[in-house]
Parts: sequence; C-alpha cells; structure tokens
Amino acid sequence: MCGIIGINSNKPVSANIINSLKKLEYRGYDSAGMATLYNGLINEVKSEGRVENLEKNSLVQNMEGTIGIGHVRWATHGLPNSINAHPHSSQNVSVVHNGIIENSTILKKFLIGKGHKFKSQTDTEVIVHLITENLKTENIVNSIQKTLKSLHGSFALGIIFKDQPDLIVGARRGSPLAVGYGPNENYLGSDSYALKSMTNKITYLNDGEFCIIKKDYVEFFSEEGTKINKKVLELSSTEEKYDKGDYKHFMVKEIEEQPNTIKNGINEYIDMSNKDINIYNFPWRSDEISSITLIGCGTAYHSCLMAKYWFEEITSLDVNIDIASEFRYRKNRFKKDTLYVFVSQSGETADTYAALDLCKQSGVKTCAVVNVVESSIARDSEFVLPIHCGIEIGVASTKAFLGQILILYILALKLALLRKDIEKSNFDKKIDDLKNLPKLVEKTLLIDNKIQSISNTFNEAKGSMFLGRGFSYPIALEGALKLKELSYIHAEGYPAGEMKHGPLALIEEGMPVVVLAPRDNYYKKTISNMQEVIARGAKVLLITNKSKDEVISENIWEKIEVESTNEDLLPFLLTIPLQKLAYYSALKKGYDIDKPRNLAKSVTVE
Ligand code: F6R
Repeated sequence: MCGIIGINSNKPVSANIINSLKKLEYRGYDSAGMATLYNGLINEVKSEGRVENLEKNSLVQNMEGTIGIGHVRWATHGLPNSINAHPHSSQNVSVVHNGIIENSTILKKFLIGKGHKFKSQTDTEVIVHLITENLKTENIVNSIQKTLKSLHGSFALGIIFKDQPDLIVGARRGSPLAVGYGPNENYLGSDSYALKSMTNKITYLNDGEFCIIKKDYVEFFSEEGTKINKKVLELSSTEEKYDKGDYKHFMVKEIEEQPNTIKNGINEYIDMSNKDINIYNFPWRSDEISSITLIGCGTAYHSCLMAKYWFEEITSLDVNIDIASEFRYRKNRFKKDTLYVFVSQSGETADTYAALDLCKQSGVKTCAVVNVVESSIARDSEFVLPIHCGIEIGVASTKAFLGQILILYILALKLALLRKDIEKSNFDKKIDDLKNLPKLVEKTLLIDNKIQSISNTFNEAKGSMFLGRGFSYPIALEGALKLKELSYIHAEGYPAGEMKHGPLALIEEGMPVVVLAPRDNYYKKTISNMQEVIARGAKVLLITNKSKDEVISENIWEKIEVESTNEDLLPFLLTIPLQKLAYYSALKKGYDIDKPRNLAKSVTVE
C-alpha cells in the first residue's frame, strides 16, 4: 500500500502534489507528507492522518519549489505518526517509499556504524542513508543501482536530491510505479489514476527498473544500470469523474450502483438476442483446459470460492481455489491444462500479483478478472476479463464483488457450453434469468428500514456468526468480513453444517447469528442447523428468498426475504442485506465507513 507522487516542473508543484495525494489516499491514509527543493534546500512537511490535515498545514500552503515528491502512508514499520510519515530525508536526499525493506535491521546497524543518525522507526529511512552513503563515492545512477542491490523486499521509490534541481529518481521492485509525461513537466506516480488530471501518457516500470525524470525527458535503466527504451502508452484521456453525489458515503453509493454493475457486465458479455456469451479473443480452445484454479485475497477470494461452487455445478472441470498469500509459498504442481484465474478489484494486490508472476514463470495459462484494466495484474495476464463496475472508492469492496462473481458465473457458463457440459436449453434458460437480475438486485436494495433497526443488536453484541451451506457459504464469509472490517465487531462466517464440530460452543444467550437459507437444495438442512443455534440461545436473523411456502421454522428473531430467482443467482441477492447490515452498523457507531481503521484499498505489500 502507500501512494507515491513526484512532479518535476517549471511551475510550483505543491498544489498538484496535494491533488494527486488525495487521489492516492485509497492506498493508505494514516499520514501524509511531501518534500520540495527550494533555494538549494529540501523542505519537508508531514502530518498525521488524512491528506486534508497536510493541506491545512500552513507550511504546505506557502511551500515553494518546482520539483517535489509526496506520499500517503499505510504503516508497516513504526506507528502511524508524523515522525514516521514519509518523505524521509537526510541533508542531501529525500525519499518516499511504498513496500517493505526486509533487511532494514541489518542495514540500519551497518549505517549507524558509519555514523548515520536515524529519526524514525521506519524501514524506509535506511534507503535515505544508504543513498547518502553511496553518493560519497558514486554518481547518481551508480549510487541508486548500488543502493537498490542492497535492498531485500519490495519497493516503489521516489527520490529527490538537494544538489540536483532537475531530477527525480523512480525505482520499482514488486510495488507498482508509473511515469507520466506532460508539457514541460514529467511525473512519477503509484498509478495512472493519480496522474490522470495531468497526463494520459504513461510508461509503467517493470520490476527491477529505475528511471531519471527530468522536466523535458525521462531516462530508463535496467536493474544492471544499462539504459533501456520503454513504450509510452496513451490511456483514455477522459478522466472518470466519480463523487459521492447526494450519498453520505461512497460505500452506500457503490451498494446502490449494483444494478448497473450487473447491467454493464451483461451488456459487455452477453448477446441476449442470440442467447450467447461473447468472450472475444479467448486465447485457448476449450479442450485445452481441463481444470481451473482461482486465486485472490479477501473479498476477491470469496468470489473465487463462489465461483468454485458454480464451476463444479455447471461444468465438468476440476476446480481449485487459493488465497494468494498461501498459493505463492506452496509447492504447487503447475499444470499446462489448468487455467489460472486471478481475481482482483484493484489489480495491484501484491500477493495476487506474486501468484500470477509464479504462474507466468511456470508457463501456464493466466487470466485476470479485474476492475482496473490498467493495473499490473491486468497488464501481465495473458487474457483479461474486465468487471466494468467503474471506480470503487469505499475500502470495503461491494459492487466489485458482485461484478467479479457475475463475470466468473458468465465464464463458467461459456466454458460449460463450449465443453458441452450443459444442454443448450438449460443454458438459454440461465441466460434469460440473468437478464432479470438487475431488476431483482434493484428490488432487493429496497429492504433498508428493517436492516437499520436490526443493526442495533449487532452493535450491542460481543460477537456474531454468519452461516450458510452450498452457494450461500461464500456469501456468509463475505457478510462476516464486511461486518468486521466496517463495524469492528467480531464476526465469523462458517459453513452451517460445521457448527457442531466446534463453533457451537461460542453460541450463548442473545448472540446474533445470521443464517442464509434460501429455498435451494440445502434449505432443509440449513434450517435444521439454524434450530441447533436457536436451541442454544442465538438470536437468528434468517435471510431467505420470497416463496409461497411458509418458512418452516419458529423462534427466529428476524427474517429478511430477498427476491426469488434460480438457485445460481440467489447469492447475488443474499449479498445485499449483508452489505447493508455492515454499512448501518458502522454508520450508527459513527465510524469512518469509506476508510475503516488500519486498512487500505490497494494492498501492495505482502
Ligand atoms: C474487503 C476488501 C478486501 C479486498 C482484498 C483484495 O472488503 O475489499 O478484502 O477484497 O484486499 O483486493 P483486490 O480485489 O483489489 O485484489
């Protein structure tokens, strides 16, 4: 995480640095800072908390300088305070860093031995002193190359030098970094989004590369320090405007946008008149794929789990799923006939990217399901299935989740059809049902009032559980994740049938338990599991779908009914009350809904 910006211009840069930092805030928001060069000195200003605190700082308002760097932080080493905020500077060098330096303790010892004094608890400060030390004997390029060689771990760096009034250095290993080109000025940024108000001409650095950014030109270097040429990409020049409108928070806006998320996905991939799925330029024949492995983190991992149920139900493919941070360190048996699918909203999640990288090195088939199509995961996968849900700002993923599961469902249907795993009549029926999904999502979104009052009970409880079987199990996990990350209430998602193997011991009088029991194949079994928790004192919120049959249960505390559709599509609808429950719980607690504590939107560290 953490966001980096650098601007080398012939005009003052502080206002544009602040504007870019606001766009980067989704990457980290515990502190912010910037440094410019002015009158041969490095000026540094840092503030704890949000970029608006930095902006209000009178030193920033009067900050001069036509070259500068800025940073928003998500703390890894050291408390989130202004001392540990970036940039970190010596007299000669100022550095902003995204990533983790794994050998910082050893390097620090070495540098202290050389007489360097440290001010912060961060790992980043060793980079400042290493460059300062190397500059004693080397020129800029050699000192950077030598410094990068000494660092273990991951980094994206922006560096300015007291004695170099026309030069910013950028360097990348693991964490993303882009260079932008403007009229008489050039830029460095963690992503193209941060640079978009200034330029749409972008070059992405690859791992190991570094660059020197002058006002009029940019030079790129390989890890070995040799000059290289790189392509300039022209991105769409229209900057996507996205604000809260009349909504109180981005999260609630993004929840309400979900009918459009579904519509966009359907319009993009489904040919309703011919009852077909268009996935153009899919690089593999269906008989080249006999299994599929889906990989992601957090909510994106829940999308993978959801997809596993659908792929197993609809296709005859073998399906595996993995949490990216586990996949990358296991001894995987890579198979040429397996399609490896990487699911990610941001497309920058470090663990997911590392898993993709591993697959690429093994020469297997890679496909990305991402929202940000300019992201590293999208760029480096062989094939991309974009989610098309628009920018998602709320740190808790909502519309991207529905977007991901929709695309994965569509992919399952397409492969099933190509492999003749599904009858055409059944396929057509499923396509017809999909057509109605946006309307059903819209209707399900109307269940507001009841959830608002229900959320009080969750807020007063010590903890809560979310239970589901089959297609509802991944949704139970997702509901629990949403509640804990937004309301800081302990919430555990569990397969309903597993409760008796241990977690039933947690149930005590009055504990709120969400039971997802739509009228699907698992309905009766789940209702029995529900009775088992009610018998032990749980207050059950049953979420099911509308049906003419009465619910076969008494003693439930509350019931919410979502719209009805075929079994495959019920998970979309069950998700909505859970997103709202988390939102209202956090709202009532007065928490920062779009930026929950300790989190960030783009997780670019391991
Ligand atoms: C939870 C949430 C996270 C992300 C996870 C992966 O609401 O948003 O769990 O899903 O950090 O992020 P992406 O999808 O960007 O790879």
